[in-house]
Amino acid sequence: MKKQIICLLIACFASASLEAQTIASLASPNKLIEVKLIQSPEKQIQYQISYKSKEVIAPSSLGFTFKKPVADLRKFNIIRIDSSTFDETWSPILGEVKDIRNQYKQLSLELKDAGNSGIIIQINFRIYDDGIGFRYNFPKQDNLNHFIVDNEWSTFKMTGDHTAFWIPGDYDTNEYTYNKSKLSEIDASAAAAKEKDIALTSPIGKNFVQSPLMLKSAEGLYINVHEAALLNYPVMHLQVNGSTLTSQLTPDAVGNKAYLQTPFSTPWRTLIIADKAEQILASKLILNLNEPSKIKDSTWIKGQKFVGMWWEMHVGKANWPLANGKHGANTANVKRYIDFAAQHSFDGVLVEGWNQGWEDWFGNWKENVFDFTSPYPDYDIDSLTKYAQSKGLRLIMHHETSGSATNYERRMDAAYAYMVSKGINTVKTGYVGRIIPRGEHHDSQWMTQHYQRVAEKAADYKLMVDSHESSHPTGLQRTYPNWLTSEAARGSEFNNAPTLGIASNHTTILPFTRLIGGPMDYTPGLFHLSLNQFDTTRTQKVRSTLAKQLALYVTIYSPLQMASDLPENYEQHLDAFQFIKDVAVNWDDTKIISAEPGEYLTIARKAKGKDAWFIGSITNENARNISFGLDFLDPDKTYEAIVYRDADTADFEKNPEAYIIEKRLVTRVSNMTYRLQRGGGCAVSLKKIN
Ligand code: NOJ
Ligand code: CA
Repeated sequence: MKKQIICLLIACFASASLEAQTIASLASPNKLIEVKLIQSPEKQIQYQISYKSKEVIAPSSLGFTFKKPVADLRKFNIIRIDSSTFDETWSPILGEVKDIRNQYKQLSLELKDAGNSGIIIQINFRIYDDGIGFRYNFPKQDNLNHFIVDNEWSTFKMTGDHTAFWIPGDYDTNEYTYNKSKLSEIDASAAAAKEKDIALTSPIGKNFVQSPLMLKSAEGLYINVHEAALLNYPVMHLQVNGSTLTSQLTPDAVGNKAYLQTPFSTPWRTLIIADKAEQILASKLILNLNEPSKIKDSTWIKGQKFVGMWWEMHVGKANWPLANGKHGANTANVKRYIDFAAQHSFDGVLVEGWNQGWEDWFGNWKENVFDFTSPYPDYDIDSLTKYAQSKGLRLIMHHETSGSATNYERRMDAAYAYMVSKGINTVKTGYVGRIIPRGEHHDSQWMTQHYQRVAEKAADYKLMVDSHESSHPTGLQRTYPNWLTSEAARGSEFNNAPTLGIASNHTTILPFTRLIGGPMDYTPGLFHLSLNQFDTTRTQKVRSTLAKQLALYVTIYSPLQMASDLPENYEQHLDAFQFIKDVAVNWDDTKIISAEPGEYLTIARKAKGKDAWFIGSITNENARNISFGLDFLDPDKTYEAIVYRDADTADFEKNPEAYIIEKRLVTRVSNMTYRLQRGGGCAVSLKKIN
């Protein structure tokens, strides 16, 4: 990193001024984004951002209040301002592209409380071509050792009443339906009140939303607000006041936000800024703001596709507990899944409901219902794990904690050693319900530490993790690449929910919101789209066509992907199932071809180490035509394209399972044109022909 001290503006620090003073400014490497740092006459520190010379973030204040020692850190004297540049290229262990350029300019401020606490804070701004990140550092200092945060006062002052894609602020769940409204029209309380599908909610109030928050200005500028590298700190929610967003940290069980010790750095607060929606999806800013992998030998970390009896439980064919006569995780049924997985070359079989405790797992808020090492008597784990391995695949173990994260921590070593002894290398964790016994929130500092402890402990045992009901991801897949994916949003399981379910536009919003933070275990691939197959009283329908279910394997990035429907349903459509068998989960390249939040999305990805591309296009509840070129293909080569598209009569409400499969030869000068029907999609595989 090249460093330089900015001296030119230092002259104005000394004298008190009646006007706001610009104390430093720095532009992104391509000069399109500029950050100005300002000191107000009241000694507040503000940042202002412009994009292509137009103000995007109006002067916005920064600061903290502490509970212990009591301190109000919102007015400062400036000690020092540095700037530096950085440019490196790194390669993710699993990812959407092979190489990522991390190029930014940095402005670092050192500030001293203008009051009498003597506390020193540093604020670092990293300015990228696609946005900015800033974080606070509390260096080791005589005046501050342990401290308790009352709140962080980071503000993001938008320059207009932008359109927002938002979910209600909630300290315990992010499994909400997305809403679209002007910032001034956000009513999170009303939206949360409609969410009867969610068992546990702690909505914060009318004006609170979660990040990643996607905004679009009237002039067509896209701004995404989120955070990166969330470690040892609570999740940031956002309070909306007019066009100004203010950070709202998740409290702990007694109302404190964070217990910290110097030296400490907060997560990065991030703004991705672009005048094209596609550029928001192509941004690698969040990943770049995370630390490199902590796992030295990562050869055991692999992308995977898996099947499992999970959906049997959700649609009422089977159940988790042994007691009720429909136990899904019995030896014969798991063997059936292993056979199916082996026949179709999957890597894993997820087994839920394998362990004792499910009779009493939900609603009573009990500790110790699961020990994670006691299988039900009708589940012969030893013979099954050997059988799976003889067929070249592995079982994936489920650890539902039922919110008892402390119980899980006490048992983690034994549970992971047990997994290793059975040759199982991937765990799906879950945190349904209240976090007991202390009543921490899912988004609290303690739970953030817990998710990190799980990732680290799992890495000690060479285990890969898929977390459900965890907090929103913030790019930690760079630092802990064994934490393959998480749910942390409304996933496909909600197709079966009785009220709101999953709207047809949901998957066109997810890439702009939830997926900005990291991969998602959405569990796509439903082929039987009326959910009354095993329970004729159910009226729920998946609001997607079958072809769209295929496209989701490309539009929703995850190195761990489930084919979530039942073998008997796939056997009805083995021709369409071929796409799920073929599609990759780890990529050398990704092209965002076209995108608009809430409307449509087309993404092409090149499979890791292969001459094969996969394309996914999806639409919301409206039908539309899609047309694009293939100039990303190698020159002078011919590819066989297999197109899995909606039939002309397909419609998510009336005829969702109607699809057509067509083959054609294409080159890089060919055009793809197809029609996405209502709630529809299209998936394409492209293989180079020798
Ligand atoms: C919610 C999870 O998201 C789902 O995948 C799981 O099957 C149930 N909890 C039971 O643990
Ligand atoms: Ca869930």
